[in-house]
Amino acid sequence: MTLLFKSDVDRADIWRDALTAQLPDLEFRVWPAVGDPSEIEFALVWNPARGELAKLPNLKAIFSLGAGIDHLASDPDLPKQVPVVRMVDQSLTLGMTEFVVMSVLRHHRRVHDYELQQRQKIWEQHVTPLSWQRKVGILGLGVLGSDAAEKLTYLGFDVAGWSRNEKKQAGVTSYFGKDGLRPFLERSEILVCLLPLTTETRGILNSETLSLLPRGACLINVGRGEHMIPDDILAALNSGQLSAATLDVFPQEPLPESSALWDHPKVLITPHAASITLPTTAAESIAESIRRLGRGEALENVVDFERGY
Ligand code: NDP
Ligand code: OXD
Repeated sequence: MTLLFKSDVDRADIWRDALTAQLPDLEFRVWPAVGDPSEIEFALVWNPARGELAKLPNLKAIFSLGAGIDHLASDPDLPKQVPVVRMVDQSLTLGMTEFVVMSVLRHHRRVHDYELQQRQKIWEQHVTPLSWQRKVGILGLGVLGSDAAEKLTYLGFDVAGWSRNEKKQAGVTSYFGKDGLRPFLERSEILVCLLPLTTETRGILNSETLSLLPRGACLINVGRGEHMIPDDILAALNSGQLSAATLDVFPQEPLPESSALWDHPKVLITPHAASITLPTTAAESIAESIRRLGRGEALENVVDFERGY
Protein backbone atom coordinates (compact mmCIF):
# COMPACT_ATOMS: atom_id res chain seq x y z
CA MET A 1 0.00 0.00 0.00
CA THR A 2 1.19 3.50 -0.78
CA LEU A 3 0.53 6.73 1.07
CA LEU A 4 1.29 10.22 -0.14
CA PHE A 5 2.18 12.88 2.42
CA LYS A 6 1.90 16.64 2.03
CA SER A 7 2.19 19.19 4.81
CA ASP A 8 3.11 22.86 5.05
CA VAL A 9 5.20 21.99 8.08
CA ASP A 10 8.15 19.82 7.08
CA ARG A 11 7.84 16.84 9.40
CA ALA A 12 7.83 14.14 6.74
CA ASP A 13 10.55 11.98 8.33
CA ILE A 14 8.79 11.90 11.67
CA TRP A 15 5.50 10.94 10.02
CA ARG A 16 7.23 8.28 7.90
CA ASP A 17 8.76 6.68 11.01
CA ALA A 18 5.54 6.86 13.01
CA LEU A 19 3.40 5.38 10.24
CA THR A 20 5.77 2.67 9.08
CA ALA A 21 6.15 1.57 12.72
CA GLN A 22 2.40 0.90 12.64
CA LEU A 23 2.19 -0.38 9.05
CA PRO A 24 5.51 -2.02 8.02
CA ASP A 25 4.26 -2.71 4.47
CA LEU A 26 3.49 0.93 3.84
CA GLU A 27 5.32 2.75 1.07
CA PHE A 28 5.50 6.40 2.11
CA ARG A 29 5.97 9.04 -0.59
CA VAL A 30 6.36 12.74 0.01
CA TRP A 31 4.75 15.31 -2.25
CA PRO A 32 5.69 16.33 -4.95
CA ALA A 33 7.50 13.00 -5.56
CA VAL A 34 4.20 11.28 -6.35
CA GLY A 35 5.62 8.64 -8.72
CA ASP A 36 2.89 6.77 -10.56
CA PRO A 37 -0.32 8.53 -9.37
CA SER A 38 -2.35 5.34 -9.84
CA GLU A 39 -0.31 3.64 -7.07
CA ILE A 40 -1.38 6.07 -4.36
CA GLU A 41 -4.14 4.62 -2.16
CA PHE A 42 -4.07 7.05 0.77
CA ALA A 43 -3.22 10.72 1.12
CA LEU A 44 -2.25 12.40 4.41
CA VAL A 45 -2.47 16.12 3.85
CA TRP A 46 -2.55 19.64 5.18
CA ASN A 47 -3.28 22.41 2.67
CA PRO A 48 -2.75 20.44 -0.56
CA ALA A 49 -2.73 22.51 -3.73
CA ARG A 50 -6.19 22.65 -5.28
CA GLY A 51 -6.78 19.96 -7.87
CA GLU A 52 -3.83 17.78 -6.78
CA LEU A 53 -5.93 15.11 -5.03
CA ALA A 54 -8.13 14.78 -8.13
CA LYS A 55 -5.04 13.52 -10.01
CA LEU A 56 -4.87 10.35 -7.88
CA PRO A 57 -7.33 7.90 -9.53
CA ASN A 58 -7.13 5.05 -6.99
CA LEU A 59 -7.38 6.94 -3.70
CA LYS A 60 -9.24 5.00 -1.00
CA ALA A 61 -9.14 7.66 1.73
CA ILE A 62 -7.86 11.16 2.41
CA PHE A 63 -6.61 11.81 5.94
CA SER A 64 -6.52 15.38 7.19
CA LEU A 65 -3.52 16.20 9.35
CA GLY A 66 -5.80 18.48 11.34
CA ALA A 67 -9.22 18.35 12.95
CA GLY A 68 -10.39 21.15 10.67
CA ILE A 69 -10.99 20.23 7.04
CA ASP A 70 -11.57 23.71 5.61
CA HIS A 71 -8.20 23.29 3.81
CA LEU A 72 -9.85 20.47 1.83
CA ALA A 73 -13.42 21.75 1.58
CA SER A 74 -12.14 24.81 -0.30
CA ASP A 75 -10.86 22.57 -3.16
CA PRO A 76 -13.56 22.55 -5.86
CA ASP A 77 -11.93 19.47 -7.43
CA LEU A 78 -11.80 17.39 -4.26
CA PRO A 79 -12.76 13.85 -5.39
CA LYS A 80 -16.27 13.46 -3.97
CA GLN A 81 -16.29 9.66 -3.92
CA VAL A 82 -13.23 9.45 -1.63
CA PRO A 83 -13.92 9.59 2.13
CA VAL A 84 -12.11 12.33 4.03
CA VAL A 85 -11.16 11.40 7.60
CA ARG A 86 -10.55 14.29 9.97
CA MET A 87 -7.99 14.14 12.75
CA VAL A 88 -9.33 12.93 16.07
CA ASP A 89 -6.40 12.17 18.28
CA GLN A 90 -5.79 12.12 22.03
CA SER A 91 -2.74 14.38 21.84
CA LEU A 92 -4.58 16.97 19.73
CA THR A 93 -7.48 16.96 22.20
CA LEU A 94 -5.23 17.15 25.25
CA GLY A 95 -3.16 19.96 23.72
CA MET A 96 -6.28 21.98 22.96
CA THR A 97 -7.73 21.44 26.41
CA GLU A 98 -4.47 22.60 28.00
CA PHE A 99 -4.49 25.74 25.86
CA VAL A 100 -8.14 26.57 26.52
CA VAL A 101 -7.87 25.96 30.27
CA MET A 102 -4.68 28.03 30.45
CA SER A 103 -6.30 30.89 28.51
CA VAL A 104 -9.55 30.83 30.49
CA LEU A 105 -7.57 30.94 33.75
CA ARG A 106 -5.39 33.76 32.43
CA HIS A 107 -8.44 35.88 31.66
CA HIS A 108 -10.42 34.78 34.73
CA ARG A 109 -7.55 35.85 37.03
CA ARG A 110 -6.91 39.01 34.96
CA VAL A 111 -3.32 38.04 34.23
CA HIS A 112 -3.75 40.02 31.00
CA ASP A 113 -4.14 43.14 33.18
CA TYR A 114 -1.15 42.25 35.38
CA GLU A 115 0.99 41.85 32.26
CA LEU A 116 0.08 45.41 31.25
CA GLN A 117 0.62 46.69 34.78
CA GLN A 118 4.06 45.11 34.97
CA ARG A 119 5.19 47.03 31.91
CA GLN A 120 4.13 50.23 33.69
CA LYS A 121 5.43 49.13 37.14
CA ILE A 122 1.93 49.44 38.61
CA TRP A 123 1.28 47.50 41.85
CA GLU A 124 -2.50 47.05 41.98
CA GLN A 125 -4.45 43.99 43.09
CA HIS A 126 -7.70 42.87 41.46
CA VAL A 127 -10.16 40.72 43.34
CA THR A 128 -11.61 38.17 40.93
CA PRO A 129 -14.77 36.07 41.36
CA LEU A 130 -14.56 32.40 42.25
CA SER A 131 -14.66 29.98 39.34
CA TRP A 132 -18.30 28.99 39.94
CA GLN A 133 -19.23 32.67 39.60
CA ARG A 134 -17.52 32.89 36.17
CA LYS A 135 -19.54 32.07 33.08
CA VAL A 136 -17.54 30.48 30.29
CA GLY A 137 -19.13 29.86 26.89
CA ILE A 138 -17.72 27.46 24.31
CA LEU A 139 -18.83 27.85 20.69
CA GLY A 140 -18.63 24.27 19.38
CA LEU A 141 -19.11 21.33 21.76
CA GLY A 142 -17.53 18.69 19.54
CA VAL A 143 -14.52 16.49 20.26
CA LEU A 144 -12.37 19.44 21.37
CA GLY A 145 -15.00 21.75 22.86
CA SER A 146 -16.58 19.02 25.00
CA ASP A 147 -13.22 17.93 26.45
CA ALA A 148 -12.27 21.51 27.33
CA ALA A 149 -15.75 22.01 28.83
CA GLU A 150 -15.35 18.90 30.98
CA LYS A 151 -11.98 20.01 32.39
CA LEU A 152 -13.29 23.55 33.02
CA THR A 153 -16.22 22.14 34.99
CA TYR A 154 -13.71 20.19 37.17
CA LEU A 155 -12.25 23.59 38.03
CA GLY A 156 -15.71 24.76 39.01
CA PHE A 157 -16.47 27.14 36.12
CA ASP A 158 -20.07 27.75 35.09
CA VAL A 159 -19.73 26.35 31.55
CA ALA A 160 -22.16 26.50 28.63
CA GLY A 161 -21.71 25.31 25.08
CA TRP A 162 -23.31 26.13 21.75
CA SER A 163 -23.72 23.49 19.08
CA ARG A 164 -26.07 22.57 16.24
CA ASN A 165 -27.74 19.81 18.21
CA GLU A 166 -28.68 19.74 21.89
CA LYS A 167 -26.03 18.15 24.16
CA LYS A 168 -26.34 16.35 27.44
CA GLN A 169 -22.99 16.82 29.14
CA ALA A 170 -22.75 16.79 32.92
CA GLY A 171 -22.29 20.29 34.33
CA VAL A 172 -22.49 21.99 30.92
CA THR A 173 -25.52 24.05 29.91
CA SER A 174 -26.46 23.30 26.32
CA TYR A 175 -27.54 26.02 23.90
CA PHE A 176 -28.11 25.00 20.34
CA GLY A 177 -29.20 26.14 16.92
CA LYS A 178 -29.67 29.69 15.69
CA ASP A 179 -32.16 30.51 18.49
CA GLY A 180 -29.72 29.38 21.14
CA LEU A 181 -26.93 31.70 20.08
CA ARG A 182 -28.25 34.95 21.57
CA PRO A 183 -28.93 33.68 25.13
CA PHE A 184 -25.63 31.78 25.02
CA LEU A 185 -23.67 34.92 24.11
CA GLU A 186 -25.54 37.09 26.63
CA ARG A 187 -24.17 34.95 29.49
CA SER A 188 -20.61 34.32 28.19
CA GLU A 189 -18.07 36.36 30.15
CA ILE A 190 -15.23 34.34 28.63
CA LEU A 191 -16.05 33.18 25.11
CA VAL A 192 -14.07 30.37 23.48
CA CYS A 193 -14.48 29.67 19.75
CA LEU A 194 -13.91 26.01 18.86
CA LEU A 195 -16.16 25.80 15.82
CA PRO A 196 -15.24 24.33 12.46
CA LEU A 197 -15.15 26.84 9.59
CA THR A 198 -18.28 26.41 7.46
CA THR A 199 -20.51 28.73 5.44
CA GLU A 200 -22.68 29.05 8.57
CA THR A 201 -19.87 29.86 11.02
CA ARG A 202 -17.69 32.13 8.84
CA GLY A 203 -17.62 35.63 10.37
CA ILE A 204 -19.57 34.57 13.47
CA LEU A 205 -17.35 36.74 15.69
CA ASN A 206 -18.59 40.12 14.44
CA SER A 207 -19.78 43.43 15.89
CA GLU A 208 -23.33 42.18 16.33
CA THR A 209 -22.47 38.96 18.18
CA LEU A 210 -19.73 40.63 20.23
CA SER A 211 -22.20 43.33 21.33
CA LEU A 212 -24.36 40.60 22.93
CA LEU A 213 -21.59 39.54 25.32
CA PRO A 214 -21.52 41.03 28.84
CA ARG A 215 -19.48 44.25 28.75
CA GLY A 216 -15.78 43.58 29.33
CA ALA A 217 -15.94 39.94 28.18
CA CYS A 218 -12.80 38.13 27.02
CA LEU A 219 -12.46 36.24 23.74
CA ILE A 220 -10.37 33.16 23.02
CA ASN A 221 -10.36 32.21 19.33
CA VAL A 222 -8.81 28.83 18.64
CA GLY A 223 -11.20 27.86 15.83
CA ARG A 224 -10.30 29.54 12.58
CA GLY A 225 -9.27 33.08 11.68
CA GLU A 226 -12.20 33.41 9.29
CA HIS A 227 -14.58 33.09 12.22
CA MET A 228 -13.54 36.66 13.11
CA ILE A 229 -14.09 39.99 11.45
CA PRO A 230 -10.76 41.46 12.63
CA ASP A 231 -11.90 45.11 12.44
CA ASP A 232 -14.90 44.25 14.62
CA ILE A 233 -12.64 42.56 17.18
CA LEU A 234 -10.41 45.65 17.27
CA ALA A 235 -13.40 47.97 17.65
CA ALA A 236 -14.78 45.86 20.51
CA LEU A 237 -11.37 45.91 22.25
CA ASN A 238 -11.02 49.67 21.79
CA SER A 239 -14.51 50.41 23.09
CA GLY A 240 -14.07 48.16 26.16
CA GLN A 241 -16.82 45.77 25.04
CA LEU A 242 -14.02 43.19 25.03
CA SER A 243 -11.43 43.61 27.76
CA ALA A 244 -8.91 41.15 26.26
CA ALA A 245 -8.48 38.55 23.55
CA THR A 246 -6.34 35.48 23.00
CA LEU A 247 -6.06 34.87 19.28
CA ASP A 248 -4.41 31.76 17.88
CA VAL A 249 -5.81 31.74 14.35
CA PHE A 250 -6.10 34.44 11.69
CA PRO A 251 -7.69 34.94 8.27
CA GLN A 252 -4.18 35.22 6.84
CA GLU A 253 -1.39 33.12 8.38
CA PRO A 254 1.27 34.05 9.26
CA LEU A 255 -0.45 37.19 10.56
CA PRO A 256 0.90 40.02 8.37
CA GLU A 257 3.30 42.44 10.07
CA SER A 258 0.95 45.27 9.16
CA SER A 259 -1.90 43.87 11.29
CA ALA A 260 -2.94 46.18 14.14
CA LEU A 261 -3.56 43.08 16.25
CA TRP A 262 0.19 42.48 16.74
CA ASP A 263 0.68 45.61 18.86
CA HIS A 264 -2.67 45.78 20.56
CA PRO A 265 -2.06 45.87 24.32
CA LYS A 266 -5.11 43.74 25.07
CA VAL A 267 -4.30 40.96 22.61
CA LEU A 268 -2.21 37.85 23.10
CA ILE A 269 -1.18 36.30 19.79
CA THR A 270 -0.05 32.71 19.36
CA PRO A 271 0.95 31.31 15.93
CA HIS A 272 -1.79 28.70 15.33
CA ALA A 273 -0.17 26.66 18.06
CA ALA A 274 -3.07 25.97 20.43
CA SER A 275 -2.73 22.30 19.61
CA ILE A 276 -0.55 20.50 17.11
CA THR A 277 -1.11 16.97 15.83
CA LEU A 278 1.63 14.68 17.14
CA PRO A 279 2.67 11.97 14.66
CA THR A 280 3.41 9.40 17.36
CA THR A 281 -0.18 9.20 18.58
CA ALA A 282 -1.98 10.28 15.39
CA ALA A 283 -0.27 7.55 13.36
CA GLU A 284 -2.08 4.97 15.51
CA SER A 285 -5.52 6.27 14.50
CA ILE A 286 -4.55 6.63 10.83
CA ALA A 287 -3.16 3.09 10.79
CA GLU A 288 -6.32 1.80 12.46
CA SER A 289 -8.43 3.49 9.76
CA ILE A 290 -6.32 1.86 7.03
CA ARG A 291 -6.71 -1.52 8.75
CA ARG A 292 -10.47 -0.99 9.05
CA LEU A 293 -10.69 -0.36 5.31
CA GLY A 294 -8.67 -3.54 4.74
CA ARG A 295 -11.19 -5.48 6.84
CA GLY A 296 -14.06 -3.94 4.90
CA GLU A 297 -15.29 -2.00 7.96
CA ALA A 298 -16.71 1.52 7.96
CA LEU A 299 -14.34 4.40 8.65
CA GLU A 300 -14.80 6.65 11.69
CA ASN A 301 -14.61 10.46 11.79
CA VAL A 302 -15.54 10.79 8.14
CA VAL A 303 -16.35 14.36 7.12
CA ASP A 304 -19.93 15.13 6.14
CA PHE A 305 -19.48 17.74 3.41
CA GLU A 306 -23.23 18.49 3.39
CA ARG A 307 -23.00 19.97 6.90
CA GLY A 308 -19.43 21.18 6.26
CA TYR A 309 -17.47 19.44 9.03
P1 NDP B 1 -16.08 18.66 15.84
O1 NDP B 1 -16.57 18.43 14.46
O2 NDP B 1 -15.91 17.49 16.75
O3 NDP B 1 -17.05 19.69 16.59
C1 NDP B 1 -17.61 20.79 15.96
C2 NDP B 1 -18.64 21.42 16.89
O4 NDP B 1 -19.14 22.61 16.28
C3 NDP B 1 -19.85 20.50 17.12
O5 NDP B 1 -20.30 20.61 18.46
C4 NDP B 1 -20.90 21.09 16.18
O6 NDP B 1 -22.25 20.89 16.59
C5 NDP B 1 -20.56 22.57 16.26
N1 NDP B 1 -21.06 23.29 15.10
C6 NDP B 1 -20.68 23.16 13.80
N2 NDP B 1 -21.41 23.99 13.02
C7 NDP B 1 -22.25 24.64 13.85
C8 NDP B 1 -23.26 25.61 13.64
N3 NDP B 1 -23.55 26.09 12.42
N4 NDP B 1 -23.96 26.06 14.71
C9 NDP B 1 -23.69 25.58 15.95
N5 NDP B 1 -22.73 24.66 16.22
C10 NDP B 1 -22.03 24.20 15.17
O7 NDP B 1 -14.71 19.47 15.69
P2 NDP B 1 -13.46 19.50 16.70
O8 NDP B 1 -13.96 19.79 18.06
O9 NDP B 1 -12.61 18.31 16.51
O10 NDP B 1 -12.63 20.75 16.10
C11 NDP B 1 -13.21 22.04 16.06
C12 NDP B 1 -12.33 23.01 15.31
O11 NDP B 1 -11.20 23.39 16.08
C13 NDP B 1 -11.70 22.49 14.01
O12 NDP B 1 -12.61 22.45 12.94
C14 NDP B 1 -10.58 23.49 13.79
O13 NDP B 1 -11.08 24.58 13.04
C15 NDP B 1 -10.23 23.95 15.19
N6 NDP B 1 -8.89 23.50 15.61
C16 NDP B 1 -7.93 24.44 15.87
C17 NDP B 1 -6.68 24.06 16.29
C18 NDP B 1 -5.66 25.08 16.65
O14 NDP B 1 -4.50 24.73 16.92
N7 NDP B 1 -5.99 26.35 16.71
C19 NDP B 1 -6.31 22.64 16.45
C20 NDP B 1 -7.40 21.75 16.18
C21 NDP B 1 -8.64 22.17 15.76
P3 NDP B 1 -22.87 19.39 16.71
O15 NDP B 1 -22.12 18.72 17.84
O16 NDP B 1 -24.29 19.62 17.05
O17 NDP B 1 -22.64 18.72 15.39
C1 OXD C 1 -6.44 21.54 13.14
C2 OXD C 1 -5.49 22.64 13.33
O1 OXD C 1 -7.49 21.74 12.54
O2 OXD C 1 -4.34 22.38 13.73
O3 OXD C 1 -6.15 20.43 13.66
O4 OXD C 1 -5.86 23.79 13.13
